[in-house]
Amino acid sequence: MIRINENYLKLQSSYLFVEIANRVSVYQQENPEADIIRLGIGDVTRALPPACTQAFSQGVKEMAVDATFRGYGPEQGYDFLRDKIAANDYQARGADISSDEIFVSDGSKCDSANIQELFAGDIRLAIPDPVYPVYLDTNVMAGRTGEFADGRYDKILYMDSLPENGFVPNLPAQPVDLIYLCFPNNPTGASISGDTLKLWVDYARENKALILYDAAYEAFIRDRSLPRSIFEIKGAREVAIEFRSFSKTAGFTGTRCAFTVVPKTCMAYDGNGRKHSLHALWNRRHSTKFNGVSYPVQRAAEAVYSQEGKVQVQELVDYYLNNAALIRKEMATLGFEFAGGENSPYIWVNCMRDAWEFFDLLLKKAGVVTTPGPGFGKCGEGFIRISAFNSYTNVEKAMTRIREALGAELS
Ligand code: MLT
Repeated sequence: MIRINENYLKLQSSYLFVEIANRVSVYQQENPEADIIRLGIGDVTRALPPACTQAFSQGVKEMAVDATFRGYGPEQGYDFLRDKIAANDYQARGADISSDEIFVSDGSKCDSANIQELFAGDIRLAIPDPVYPVYLDTNVMAGRTGEFADGRYDKILYMDSLPENGFVPNLPAQPVDLIYLCFPNNPTGASISGDTLKLWVDYARENKALILYDAAYEAFIRDRSLPRSIFEIKGAREVAIEFRSFSKTAGFTGTRCAFTVVPKTCMAYDGNGRKHSLHALWNRRHSTKFNGVSYPVQRAAEAVYSQEGKVQVQELVDYYLNNAALIRKEMATLGFEFAGGENSPYIWVNCMRDAWEFFDLLLKKAGVVTTPGPGFGKCGEGFIRISAFNSYTNVEKAMTRIREALGAELS
């Protein structure tokens, strides 16, 4: 008899964004005429930067000719891309990262989901609440949690991110081994200062812990005082792994390219307390389970670092930040408290009522899809997340409709 991994039975319903898509689809079927504006899942809507599409199509042309055709590439990514990433994203910002510490992949979702395979089943986990659901769900699948009760899994240290702490969790009061952090944060849009991030790095060093740092939204940072990488923080090379993505930076959600940085100095321990290189373990895992990102896609990603590419990417991100500013303005006018939207594409709105009810109201009365906060954790109760990824015209339309819907509700 083939038996299942019963940890899957502990998972809560379907994956958050699938659940939302299902609800929207049911509504759309019942109301075929409804014009729905999607500010839910953070999916980009604008075309790839021209520098990327040119490099992409050049890559495809090379694949069409025997002399320049490429078969399997290096699992870790081509040097032409890894070198550009190391130089531009790290060395230029004073972070000591070399190109062979970069693992190119097809997404930060997969990498942040898969990384937990390297660690023992009984490590102590610290996970923010609210949180990008992938970190939690993949640890549930791996059996690192107990049962789910009252909105939380047993055996996880949840780190509350609330208005009181500016949505930046406090250091754990008890020792933990693996810490997930994401800044600019998904879902709250909060950012972290270098001084605060240093406290986390120091904590990890003191406790022989490891920080998994998701920096998928770093391109949205406009405040120059904020760190864009954990490796800008002294001491992080020994205790952190960073996830980065071209998805939100350069519109690659459908094209798929990302990377994970595992410094060679980053260690974890076996049952006898002996040190092991996480770089070596991840390399082993990556080359066993992954065959690399396609050549044209890596060429398209490389173009992000060309002179034109940099200008175009900045323009792309500015466009979404301009949408975010409009959402912030409208939420303020309507009297809501909110976070994010300044160095982030997400606005985290205190909706002052049940979040799923508010989600339904916005869907049915305004035709606007948002993401209900409880989908990201218990601390998301009473919040919704609004994404700035859409056209300016649609965001404007959505804000007008929300104002009218709430006006009608209040009158
Ligand atoms: C989100 O909406 O939180 C993101 O789009 C999810 C993702 O990047 O996988």
